[in-house]
Amino acid sequence: MTKLEAAGPNADQIQFWNGEGGEKFVRYQNALDLMLKPFGDEAMRRAGVKAGEAVLDIGCGCGDTSIDLAMAVGVTGEVVGVDISEPMLARAEYMAGQSELTNVFFELADVEVGPLHSDSFDLAFSRFGVMFFRNPVTAFRNVHTALRDGGRLAFACWQALPKNQWVSIQMQAVLPLVPPPPPVGPEDPGPFSFADAARVRGILSQAGFTEIAVEPFDTEVALGGMLVLDDAVDFSLEIGPATALLKDAPDDVRAKARDTVRAALQVHQTKRGVMLAAGAWIVTAKKG
Ligand SMILES: C[S@@+](CC[C@H](N)C(=O)[O-])C[C@H]1O[C@@H](n2cnc3c(N)ncnc32)[C@H](O)[C@@H]1O
Repeated sequence: MTKLEAAGPNADQIQFWNGEGGEKFVRYQNALDLMLKPFGDEAMRRAGVKAGEAVLDIGCGCGDTSIDLAMAVGVTGEVVGVDISEPMLARAEYMAGQSELTNVFFELADVEVGPLHSDSFDLAFSRFGVMFFRNPVTAFRNVHTALRDGGRLAFACWQALPKNQWVSIQMQAVLPLVPPPPPVGPEDPGPFSFADAARVRGILSQAGFTEIAVEPFDTEVALGGMLVLDDAVDFSLEIGPATALLKDAPDDVRAKARDTVRAALQVHQTKRGVMLAAGAWIVTAKKG
Protein backbone atom coordinates (compact mmCIF):
# COMPACT_ATOMS: atom_id res chain seq x y z
CA MET A 1 0.00 0.00 0.00
CA THR A 2 1.53 3.35 -1.00
CA LYS A 3 1.52 6.00 1.72
CA LEU A 4 -1.06 8.79 1.81
CA GLU A 5 0.46 12.18 2.65
CA ALA A 6 -1.49 14.38 5.07
CA ALA A 7 -2.12 16.95 2.33
CA GLY A 8 -4.95 18.29 0.21
CA PRO A 9 -8.44 19.37 1.32
CA ASN A 10 -8.72 16.60 3.94
CA ALA A 11 -5.20 16.87 5.40
CA ASP A 12 -6.53 17.23 8.97
CA GLN A 13 -8.74 14.13 8.59
CA ILE A 14 -5.84 12.12 7.08
CA GLN A 15 -3.76 13.11 10.10
CA PHE A 16 -6.53 12.25 12.58
CA TRP A 17 -7.47 8.86 11.10
CA ASN A 18 -3.79 7.87 10.77
CA GLY A 19 -3.12 9.01 14.33
CA GLU A 20 -5.24 9.06 17.46
CA GLY A 21 -8.60 8.45 15.70
CA GLY A 22 -7.48 5.41 13.72
CA GLU A 23 -5.56 3.96 16.65
CA LYS A 24 -8.66 4.15 18.89
CA PHE A 25 -10.96 2.68 16.24
CA VAL A 26 -8.57 -0.28 15.92
CA ARG A 27 -8.34 -0.69 19.71
CA TYR A 28 -12.12 -0.57 20.17
CA GLN A 29 -12.96 -2.34 16.93
CA ASN A 30 -15.08 -5.11 18.44
CA ALA A 31 -17.05 -2.69 20.63
CA LEU A 32 -17.67 -0.29 17.74
CA ASP A 33 -18.65 -3.05 15.31
CA LEU A 34 -21.13 -4.45 17.83
CA MET A 35 -22.66 -1.02 18.34
CA LEU A 36 -22.73 0.07 14.69
CA LYS A 37 -23.81 -3.25 13.17
CA PRO A 38 -27.59 -2.55 13.18
CA PHE A 39 -27.03 0.62 11.12
CA GLY A 40 -24.85 -1.13 8.53
CA ASP A 41 -27.29 -4.02 8.34
CA GLU A 42 -30.20 -1.64 7.73
CA ALA A 43 -28.30 0.24 5.00
CA MET A 44 -27.43 -3.11 3.33
CA ARG A 45 -31.06 -4.22 3.55
CA ARG A 46 -32.26 -1.01 1.91
CA ALA A 47 -29.48 -1.26 -0.71
CA GLY A 48 -30.76 -4.71 -1.72
CA VAL A 49 -27.28 -6.22 -2.13
CA LYS A 50 -27.32 -9.10 -4.66
CA ALA A 51 -25.02 -12.03 -5.44
CA GLY A 52 -22.49 -11.21 -8.16
CA GLU A 53 -22.45 -7.44 -7.57
CA ALA A 54 -19.36 -5.23 -7.37
CA VAL A 55 -19.49 -2.96 -4.30
CA LEU A 56 -17.42 0.05 -3.22
CA ASP A 57 -17.29 0.46 0.59
CA ILE A 58 -16.53 4.15 1.26
CA GLY A 59 -14.53 4.92 4.42
CA CYS A 60 -14.54 1.19 5.20
CA GLY A 61 -12.30 1.59 8.27
CA CYS A 62 -11.45 -1.76 9.89
CA GLY A 63 -13.44 -3.62 7.22
CA ASP A 64 -16.41 -5.05 9.13
CA THR A 65 -18.96 -3.99 6.49
CA SER A 66 -16.63 -4.86 3.60
CA ILE A 67 -16.50 -8.43 4.92
CA ASP A 68 -20.31 -8.59 5.37
CA LEU A 69 -20.76 -7.20 1.84
CA ALA A 70 -18.25 -9.71 0.41
CA MET A 71 -20.27 -12.54 1.96
CA ALA A 72 -23.50 -11.06 0.56
CA VAL A 73 -22.20 -10.74 -3.03
CA GLY A 74 -20.55 -14.18 -2.91
CA VAL A 75 -17.67 -15.51 -5.00
CA THR A 76 -19.06 -14.09 -8.24
CA GLY A 77 -19.07 -10.58 -6.80
CA GLU A 78 -16.37 -8.42 -5.22
CA VAL A 79 -15.94 -5.62 -2.71
CA VAL A 80 -13.38 -2.81 -2.68
CA GLY A 81 -13.03 -0.98 0.64
CA VAL A 82 -11.43 2.46 0.39
CA ASP A 83 -10.16 4.54 3.29
CA ILE A 84 -7.56 7.19 4.21
CA SER A 85 -6.40 5.36 7.38
CA GLU A 86 -3.42 3.01 7.12
CA PRO A 87 -3.85 1.46 10.59
CA MET A 88 -7.55 0.80 10.02
CA LEU A 89 -6.92 -0.72 6.58
CA ALA A 90 -4.16 -2.90 8.05
CA ARG A 91 -6.76 -4.20 10.50
CA ALA A 92 -9.25 -4.68 7.65
CA GLU A 93 -6.67 -6.73 5.68
CA TYR A 94 -6.06 -8.86 8.78
CA MET A 95 -9.80 -9.42 9.36
CA ALA A 96 -10.36 -10.32 5.70
CA GLY A 97 -7.41 -12.74 5.88
CA GLN A 98 -8.94 -14.41 8.95
CA SER A 99 -12.27 -14.77 7.12
CA GLU A 100 -10.49 -16.43 4.14
CA LEU A 101 -12.61 -14.43 1.71
CA THR A 102 -10.97 -13.98 -1.70
CA ASN A 103 -13.36 -11.33 -3.06
CA VAL A 104 -12.57 -8.36 -0.80
CA PHE A 105 -9.80 -5.82 -1.47
CA PHE A 106 -8.69 -2.62 0.24
CA GLU A 107 -7.27 0.61 -1.16
CA LEU A 108 -5.72 3.59 0.61
CA ALA A 109 -7.21 6.72 -1.02
CA ASP A 110 -9.06 9.93 -0.26
CA VAL A 111 -12.47 9.51 -1.92
CA GLU A 112 -12.61 13.26 -2.54
CA VAL A 113 -9.23 13.35 -4.30
CA GLY A 114 -9.05 9.91 -5.89
CA PRO A 115 -8.11 8.36 -8.13
CA LEU A 116 -11.18 6.12 -7.83
CA HIS A 117 -12.24 3.55 -10.39
CA SER A 118 -14.74 4.57 -13.08
CA ASP A 119 -17.85 2.68 -14.24
CA SER A 120 -16.86 -0.21 -12.01
CA PHE A 121 -19.44 -0.70 -9.23
CA ASP A 122 -23.11 -1.70 -8.95
CA LEU A 123 -23.35 -0.28 -5.44
CA ALA A 124 -21.49 2.35 -3.43
CA PHE A 125 -22.04 1.74 0.28
CA SER A 126 -20.93 3.32 3.55
CA ARG A 127 -21.48 2.94 7.27
CA PHE A 128 -20.65 6.35 8.74
CA GLY A 129 -17.69 6.93 6.38
CA VAL A 130 -19.03 9.85 4.30
CA MET A 131 -19.34 12.78 6.74
CA PHE A 132 -15.66 13.81 6.81
CA PHE A 133 -15.11 15.30 3.33
CA ARG A 134 -14.13 18.99 3.10
CA ASN A 135 -15.97 19.18 -0.25
CA PRO A 136 -18.69 16.52 -0.19
CA VAL A 137 -20.05 17.37 -3.66
CA THR A 138 -16.62 16.66 -5.19
CA ALA A 139 -16.35 13.40 -3.23
CA PHE A 140 -19.81 12.22 -4.29
CA ARG A 141 -19.09 13.17 -7.93
CA ASN A 142 -16.15 10.76 -7.72
CA VAL A 143 -18.46 8.10 -6.25
CA HIS A 144 -20.96 8.78 -9.05
CA THR A 145 -18.19 8.27 -11.63
CA ALA A 146 -17.14 5.03 -9.93
CA LEU A 147 -20.65 3.58 -10.37
CA ARG A 148 -21.92 1.88 -13.48
CA ASP A 149 -25.03 3.33 -15.17
CA GLY A 150 -28.03 2.48 -13.00
CA GLY A 151 -25.71 1.92 -10.02
CA ARG A 152 -27.02 2.49 -6.47
CA LEU A 153 -25.77 4.44 -3.47
CA ALA A 154 -26.69 3.48 0.11
CA PHE A 155 -25.17 4.80 3.31
CA ALA A 156 -25.80 5.42 7.01
CA CYS A 157 -24.94 8.79 8.56
CA TRP A 158 -25.85 10.32 11.91
CA GLN A 159 -28.87 12.52 12.57
CA ALA A 160 -28.36 15.56 14.82
CA LEU A 161 -26.60 15.27 18.19
CA PRO A 162 -29.80 15.55 20.31
CA LYS A 163 -31.10 12.38 18.57
CA ASN A 164 -27.90 10.61 19.63
CA GLN A 165 -27.97 10.27 23.37
CA TRP A 166 -25.11 7.71 23.14
CA VAL A 167 -22.83 10.73 22.46
CA SER A 168 -24.69 13.69 23.97
CA ILE A 169 -25.09 12.19 27.45
CA GLN A 170 -21.34 12.20 28.10
CA MET A 171 -20.93 15.69 26.65
CA GLN A 172 -23.64 17.05 28.96
CA ALA A 173 -21.91 15.39 31.91
CA VAL A 174 -18.45 16.74 31.03
CA LEU A 175 -19.21 20.25 29.67
CA PRO A 176 -19.78 21.91 33.09
CA LEU A 177 -16.29 20.77 34.14
CA VAL A 178 -14.21 22.11 31.23
CA PRO A 179 -13.69 25.37 29.29
CA PRO A 180 -16.17 25.79 26.40
CA PRO A 181 -14.89 23.95 23.28
CA PRO A 182 -14.26 25.81 20.00
CA PRO A 183 -17.54 26.13 18.06
CA VAL A 184 -18.13 23.55 15.30
CA GLY A 185 -20.18 24.69 12.30
CA PRO A 186 -23.05 22.38 11.29
CA GLU A 187 -21.39 21.75 7.90
CA ASP A 188 -17.83 21.32 9.21
CA PRO A 189 -16.52 17.81 8.43
CA GLY A 190 -17.30 15.51 11.35
CA PRO A 191 -19.77 12.87 12.56
CA PHE A 192 -22.79 15.21 12.51
CA SER A 193 -22.12 17.14 9.27
CA PHE A 194 -24.88 15.20 7.45
CA ALA A 195 -27.48 15.75 10.18
CA ASP A 196 -29.52 18.08 7.94
CA ALA A 197 -31.41 15.84 5.50
CA ALA A 198 -32.01 18.76 3.10
CA ARG A 199 -28.25 19.34 2.92
CA VAL A 200 -27.63 15.66 2.14
CA ARG A 201 -30.24 15.73 -0.65
CA GLY A 202 -28.63 18.90 -2.07
CA ILE A 203 -25.12 17.40 -2.05
CA LEU A 204 -26.23 14.21 -3.78
CA SER A 205 -28.33 16.04 -6.33
CA GLN A 206 -25.40 18.36 -7.21
CA ALA A 207 -23.20 15.28 -7.56
CA GLY A 208 -25.60 13.86 -10.18
CA PHE A 209 -27.64 11.37 -8.14
CA THR A 210 -31.39 10.85 -8.61
CA GLU A 211 -34.16 9.05 -6.65
CA ILE A 212 -32.65 10.37 -3.41
CA ALA A 213 -34.30 9.10 -0.22
CA VAL A 214 -33.25 10.07 3.32
CA GLU A 215 -35.10 7.89 5.84
CA PRO A 216 -34.73 7.96 9.64
CA PHE A 217 -33.51 4.87 11.45
CA ASP A 218 -34.08 5.42 15.17
CA THR A 219 -33.04 2.78 17.63
CA GLU A 220 -31.27 2.11 20.91
CA VAL A 221 -27.68 0.92 21.19
CA ALA A 222 -25.79 -0.81 23.96
CA LEU A 223 -23.00 1.72 24.56
CA GLY A 224 -19.82 0.20 23.11
CA GLY A 225 -21.56 -3.17 23.14
CA MET A 226 -20.44 -3.28 26.79
CA LEU A 227 -22.35 -5.18 29.45
CA VAL A 228 -20.49 -3.79 32.46
CA LEU A 229 -21.11 -0.16 33.49
CA ASP A 230 -17.44 0.65 34.21
CA ASP A 231 -16.40 -0.66 30.79
CA ALA A 232 -19.03 1.59 29.19
CA VAL A 233 -17.62 4.54 31.19
CA ASP A 234 -14.05 3.77 30.00
CA PHE A 235 -15.35 3.51 26.43
CA SER A 236 -17.09 6.90 26.76
CA LEU A 237 -13.96 8.63 27.98
CA GLU A 238 -11.73 7.05 25.32
CA ILE A 239 -13.74 7.61 22.15
CA GLY A 240 -16.11 10.34 21.00
CA PRO A 241 -16.59 14.06 21.72
CA ALA A 242 -16.15 13.76 25.51
CA THR A 243 -12.58 12.60 24.84
CA ALA A 244 -11.80 15.81 22.97
CA LEU A 245 -13.33 17.91 25.78
CA LEU A 246 -11.02 16.24 28.30
CA LYS A 247 -7.90 16.29 26.12
CA ASP A 248 -5.97 18.86 28.18
CA ALA A 249 -7.82 18.38 31.46
CA PRO A 250 -5.80 17.86 34.67
CA ASP A 251 -6.15 14.57 36.57
CA ASP A 252 -8.61 15.94 39.17
CA VAL A 253 -11.01 17.13 36.43
CA ARG A 254 -10.70 13.76 34.66
CA ALA A 255 -11.53 11.95 37.88
CA LYS A 256 -14.58 14.18 38.44
CA ALA A 257 -15.64 13.69 34.80
CA ARG A 258 -15.43 9.93 35.28
CA ASP A 259 -17.79 10.18 38.26
CA THR A 260 -20.32 12.40 36.48
CA VAL A 261 -20.30 10.27 33.32
CA ARG A 262 -20.69 7.12 35.43
CA ALA A 263 -23.67 8.62 37.29
CA ALA A 264 -25.33 9.70 34.00
CA LEU A 265 -24.87 6.26 32.43
CA GLN A 266 -25.90 4.28 35.50
CA VAL A 267 -29.51 5.44 35.05
CA HIS A 268 -29.58 3.66 31.68
CA GLN A 269 -27.94 0.40 32.77
CA THR A 270 -29.91 -2.73 31.87
CA LYS A 271 -29.16 -6.44 31.57
CA ARG A 272 -28.35 -5.77 27.88
CA GLY A 273 -25.83 -3.02 28.73
CA VAL A 274 -26.13 0.77 28.94
CA MET A 275 -28.98 1.36 26.48
CA LEU A 276 -29.10 4.80 24.82
CA ALA A 277 -31.03 6.37 21.94
CA ALA A 278 -29.32 6.60 18.56
CA GLY A 279 -30.65 8.11 15.35
CA ALA A 280 -29.20 7.70 11.87
CA TRP A 281 -30.32 8.53 8.35
CA ILE A 282 -30.33 5.73 5.84
CA VAL A 283 -29.71 7.41 2.51
CA THR A 284 -30.31 5.77 -0.86
CA ALA A 285 -29.94 7.16 -4.38
CA LYS A 286 -29.29 6.13 -7.97
CA LYS A 287 -26.94 6.99 -10.79
CA GLY A 288 -29.70 7.87 -13.23
C1 LIG B 1 -16.51 6.72 11.71
S1 LIG B 1 -15.33 5.84 10.79
C2 LIG B 1 -16.34 4.54 10.11
C3 LIG B 1 -15.51 3.34 9.71
C4 LIG B 1 -16.31 2.15 9.19
N1 LIG B 1 -17.09 2.47 8.03
C5 LIG B 1 -17.19 1.58 10.27
O1 LIG B 1 -18.42 1.63 10.16
O2 LIG B 1 -16.64 1.04 11.27
C6 LIG B 1 -15.08 6.91 9.42
C7 LIG B 1 -14.12 6.37 8.39
O3 LIG B 1 -14.08 7.25 7.24
C8 LIG B 1 -12.75 7.31 6.78
N2 LIG B 1 -12.59 8.54 5.97
C9 LIG B 1 -12.69 9.83 6.40
N3 LIG B 1 -12.47 10.68 5.38
C10 LIG B 1 -12.25 9.92 4.27
C11 LIG B 1 -11.95 10.23 2.91
N4 LIG B 1 -11.83 11.50 2.50
N5 LIG B 1 -11.77 9.20 2.04
C12 LIG B 1 -11.85 7.91 2.48
N6 LIG B 1 -12.13 7.56 3.75
C13 LIG B 1 -12.32 8.54 4.65
C14 LIG B 1 -11.93 7.33 8.07
O4 LIG B 1 -10.58 7.02 7.88
C15 LIG B 1 -12.69 6.27 8.90
O5 LIG B 1 -12.20 4.98 8.67
